Amino acid sequence: MKRIIIFDTTLRDGEQSPGASLDIKAKIEIAKQLARLGVNVIEAGFPIASKGDFSAVHEIASVVRGPSICGLARAKTKDIDECAKAVRSAKKPRIHVFLATSNIHMKFKLKKAKEEILKQAAYFVKYACNYCDDVEFSPEDASRSDIDFLCRVVEAVISSGAKTVNIPDTVGYAMPSEFGSLIKIIKTKVPNANKAVLSVHCHNDLGLAVSNSLSAVQNGAEQVECTVNGLGERAGNASLEEIVMALKTRKDLFDCETSIKTQELYKISRLVSKLTGIVVQPNKAIVGQNAFSHEAGIHQDGILKKRITYEIMKPEDVGFGSTRLVLGKHSGKHALRDRLKKLGVELSEDDLAKAFKRFKDLADKKKEVFDEDLLAIVEDEIISVPETYRISGFEYKSGKNVEPCATIELTKGDIVKKESSSGDGPVDACYKAIEKITGAKFNLLDYSLKSTTSGKDALGEVSVRVVSGSGVEVSGRGASTDIIEASAKAYVNAVNKLVFTKARKTKLEL
Ligand code: KIV
Ligand code: ZN
Repeated sequence: MKRIIIFDTTLRDGEQSPGASLDIKAKIEIAKQLARLGVNVIEAGFPIASKGDFSAVHEIASVVRGPSICGLARAKTKDIDECAKAVRSAKKPRIHVFLATSNIHMKFKLKKAKEEILKQAAYFVKYACNYCDDVEFSPEDASRSDIDFLCRVVEAVISSGAKTVNIPDTVGYAMPSEFGSLIKIIKTKVPNANKAVLSVHCHNDLGLAVSNSLSAVQNGAEQVECTVNGLGERAGNASLEEIVMALKTRKDLFDCETSIKTQELYKISRLVSKLTGIVVQPNKAIVGQNAFSHEAGIHQDGILKKRITYEIMKPEDVGFGSTRLVLGKHSGKHALRDRLKKLGVELSEDDLAKAFKRFKDLADKKKEVFDEDLLAIVEDEIISVPETYRISGFEYKSGKNVEPCATIELTKGDIVKKESSSGDGPVDACYKAIEKITGAKFNLLDYSLKSTTSGKDALGEVSVRVVSGSGVEVSGRGASTDIIEASAKAYVNAVNKLVFTKARKTKLEL
């Protein structure tokens, strides 16, 4: 099967993304991870551009083993000299020389005639070959170049020793069918085309970088230049993860493979995002947070019946973890039952119907309903929470010029524990004593007191809403004719709910 060479330019073209500057330490970390990912070539930078770029390419060439290490150079003596120095210590060094060939670039930017450009390209490829065997040449803006002239340049640089010729769609102008034809023409018209690897390098100005690259592969391209997360100049380059997964998922169509360990894709995406500070859009193919999330009830139902109904790739294949069914207002009963089951809660049809109604009401108000919300619904409505801790003794002191303090005795199974604490008032003192015994640490979000009966001996009911140190939110309720005791009961009820929630979550995570 044909092997497509994956040339990663995250550290060169990717770093040209506005705002994506990386320091040398970050570049080395990314380069090492790219090597683990299995890319064939790392374009580590543009050594003449700055001292920092030179050092990064030099350091990567010295420490990263596996892929070829490439540096970029204009068709100029000083660029190639610097580049050669920077990549020298690599086991497999590559020098990548570029020179524009489109009429627009030759006339307005380089101010040179075609014949001069042709000579310059051939001369500097030969010059670079004095330094290393592996020289790549790119006719910049190839897709807007005169095709006969482009073919002459390609032939000349191959004759001068270029081992790879890369055809860039520098400004992302080409359409897939057009770009595919261009590759086919070069392959068939250039007499020595089979003496070099034909590569492509597509930009995403019209959102077609990946499509153009894949069309090129179908028409004979053997190397694809791409970047992690599709970073790159302006709208970016072809995204590495999309190219690799398209070739893998549609092997039936492309009949080729790559050396990429696809299970490492998500990891490199996170790393590049963290180090560049450029966030990955949630709906980004392959590595976006939503790439394997399903919210529509019909889709969730399908996924639960048979994954391939709505998933063409397995999240595990890109190192993403697992499919996520987002419970929201579009979700159905099937998804709710499945999620609750995973949380260790199995409900009868009647109870499920009750829970589903509460869930839908909540989902109307909240974009995503989390596991904690579901457990809260179930605890509130359906399942009685086990009384892990029970108040078996209770005393408090409070008054004018008396420091409020409380002593609480809690029983858990056969174990009885007693603790005292002072506080800002008797309720606070009770809560601190309860925390000492249970180890729970809560932030009180809400406290309310109401009477449930009338008269001086009315029953007071306290409701609390608290959040634990790990962010789990629970509510608690307690009633007594003594409102301090009602407050303590509500707090203990919240602790018991937290214990219950944690036990179910642990079960889920195991
Ligand atoms: O987009 C481009 O043309 C380039 C070349 C230097 C290959 O990045
Ligand atoms: Zn580019």
